Amino acid sequence: MVTVKSEREIKLMHEAGKILASCHKEIAKMIKPGITTSEIDQFVEKFLADNGATPEQKGYQGYKYATCASINDEICHGFPRNTPLQNGDIVTIDMVVNLNGALADSAWTYAVGEISEKAQDLLEVTEKSLYKGIEAAIIGNRVGDIGHAIQSYVEPLGYSVVRDFTGHGIGPTLHEAPQILHYGLPGKGLRLKEGMVITIEPMINVGTWESKMDSNGWTARTVDGKLSAQYEHTIAITKDGPFILTQQ
Ligand code: MF3
Ligand code: CO
Repeated sequence: MVTVKSEREIKLMHEAGKILASCHKEIAKMIKPGITTSEIDQFVEKFLADNGATPEQKGYQGYKYATCASINDEICHGFPRNTPLQNGDIVTIDMVVNLNGALADSAWTYAVGEISEKAQDLLEVTEKSLYKGIEAAIIGNRVGDIGHAIQSYVEPLGYSVVRDFTGHGIGPTLHEAPQILHYGLPGKGLRLKEGMVITIEPMINVGTWESKMDSNGWTARTVDGKLSAQYEHTIAITKDGPFILTQQ
C-alpha cells in the first residue's frame, strides 16, 4: 500500500535526514587511503548515538552493520571490513538514520585518493542521474518518468542502470511501496501524489547492468567486475516540487 505522509511526519523525517547529511559530510573528510570501512562504520554508530539517532540498517533482516560499504565492482550491500581502502578505489557508503521513529536513507560514493578519469566520470554521471530522477519527481508525473529520466541520461553516455535493486517508499518502515525503478517508460506506472516520500538511488555501472550475489547472501557485484557507483536521496513530493530530506 502506498501511503502519504503528513507535513509533521515529513518534518520529522527531515530532522533524521539532516543528521544523515551531516554524517556524510564528516565521512567525506575521513575517506582516504589507509582508512577501513569498519572504522567508518564505527564512526557512524557513534555519530548517530551522539545525535540521539540509531542506525536502522543494523538488525534489519539480520544485517549486522550500521552502514553498507560497497567498494569498486560491488553494487550495494557490501559489508564494512578491516581491509584498508586503497588509492584509486571508489566506495559507496549507504545508511538509514532513525530519529525517534522517523527514517531517512542516503548513499554516497566517495573517491579514495586519486581515482582514474573513467571512475571520476562514473561518479559525476551517477550523481547527475540522481538529480535528473529527482527533477522528475513532481506531482502528476508517474514513477516511470523518474526511471526514464535516469535511464535516458545515463545510457547515451555508455553506462548501464542496475535492474536488480530499486528505490522505494520509506517511513515508518524502511522499504515501502512503491518501488522506484531507475529505468522505465515515461507516463507509465503509479502517479506521484503530494505527501509521498520515496528514495531515488540509481546504481550505475561502467559495463553491463547484470549483478551477481556474493556467497554472504548480501553483497551484489557486477558480473563483469567493472565499477559501479550509487547516489541516493530521500525526497518528499510536495506542492512546491521535490523536497530533498537528505540534502548535504
Ligand atoms: N539503504 C539500503 C536501501 O537503500 C538498505 C539496505 S538494507 C541493509 O534500501 F540491511 F542491507 F542495510
Ligand atoms: Co534505500
